[in-house]
Amino acid sequence: MKIAVGADHGGFELKEHVMSWLKDHGYGVEDCGTYDGEVSVDYPEFGRLVSKKVTGGECELGVLICGTGIGISIAANKVRGIRCSLCHDTFSAKMARQHNDANVLAMGGRVIGRGLALEVLDAWLGQTFEGGRHQRRVDQIGDIERD
Ligand code: RB5
Repeated sequence: MKIAVGADHGGFELKEHVMSWLKDHGYGVEDCGTYDGEVSVDYPEFGRLVSKKVTGGECELGVLICGTGIGISIAANKVRGIRCSLCHDTFSAKMARQHNDANVLAMGGRVIGRGLALEVLDAWLGQTFEGGRHQRRVDQIGDIERD
């Protein structure tokens, strides 16, 4: 499975750890930047880049990191077909996949420590969408995009 990963300067350091964890665990990784934590950049660009990799089919899932995870998740959720979940705990991460079929995980590099971030990532990746009544609700989210 290939995963697109992106961050702004606030998430750069955690992005590097996330990519290394993903590689160590056998995932393919597409690094969408940013490539320098010292240079201030704008998070919407990376939210868009990673999201387009997912909706375009180049990557199955995406991970986005900014300082809080808020801005980059808002940006990602503007891309049609993206269901980006901002999670800083493992329960939410599991539910985001099981119930919401989230295809992008966002985290805040200034909010969460490295250890917990990797547990959240592991929990998120370890689940699958349950479908059933949740499919109906996910379809309704898609309907909103077509309003
Ligand atoms: C950048 O300073 C910061 O605003 C950004 O990383 C993020 O937290 C925005 O939501």
